[in-house]
Amino acid sequence: MTAVMPARTTPDQGNVVLRAQGLSKRFGGLLAVQNVSFTQYAGEILAVIGPNGAGKTTLLNLLSGVYRPTSGQLWLLGNDVTGHAMEARCHAGLGRAFQIVRPFPEMTVHENVTVGALFGKRGMNLPQARERAYDLLERTGLAAHADKAAHELTLLQDKRLEVARALATQPQVLLLDEVMAGLRPAEAQEAVALVRSVQESGVSVLFIEHIMPVVRDLADRVVVMDQGQVIAEGTYREVTANPQVVSAYLGTETELHA
Ligand SMILES: Nc1ncnc2c1ncn2[C@@H]1O[C@H](COP(=O)(O)OP(=O)(O)O)[C@@H](O)[C@H]1O
Ligand SMILES: [Mg+2]
Repeated sequence: MTAVMPARTTPDQGNVVLRAQGLSKRFGGLLAVQNVSFTQYAGEILAVIGPNGAGKTTLLNLLSGVYRPTSGQLWLLGNDVTGHAMEARCHAGLGRAFQIVRPFPEMTVHENVTVGALFGKRGMNLPQARERAYDLLERTGLAAHADKAAHELTLLQDKRLEVARALATQPQVLLLDEVMAGLRPAEAQEAVALVRSVQESGVSVLFIEHIMPVVRDLADRVVVMDQGQVIAEGTYREVTANPQVVSAYLGTETELHA
């Protein structure tokens, strides 16, 4: 008797957290995002790269619900969230840190994260939210700054605060748009460690980044965009060796090979 072999699936590929199918976004005459499809698996760190103007931030805005797509569909944890507003997506498990950091400047660091926790997925009361905020400040290395006003933080601390605020909403998928921008190399390494710890806590991460060493160190898989479209997808090694990717970066300021 021959044993029946179970279907071969890698563990991560069983579990899709985010699936985009044919997403497009038109601004007047410009198709900023054009027919973008990708899948993100649970626990995966997925990087979206591409030259300036490729449509990365617009794609993130489609994922988080800042914009409705002109066409296409988006599933979050198996649910079609295409028509859902930003807040509903947040409650459904999508967290986002913004490229332009925007905490409430006069509130303390701790209060800022508490707001995130109150806004988040499960209904939380104020004492619970305050406690969760303290935990997150520990995790993101901001505990010593809890009672400072947010506007007193350095750039690196601002980025940490932004990640803490997004995590406070208890996301299963965290979206990050160039959170390493403007950081010195040593600071970027600290930020890399933070993103890694977020993944280790069970959160899937989708991040946009133009600093290639960061992409190389963090990304399980890389999606490359150019002129609104996905032109390549694969490991860091695969995409940086892809001639279409190399040509898309030609003449830009970004050094493709880290
Ligand atoms: N709100 C908007 N209105 C009109 N055009 C926009 C808007 N946002 C982005 N664009 C345009 O869409 C294209 C993609 O922009 P963006 O998504 O910001 O690219 P990236 O983040 O990859 O640099 C660019 O040509 C940009 O000028
Ligand atoms: Mg951008």
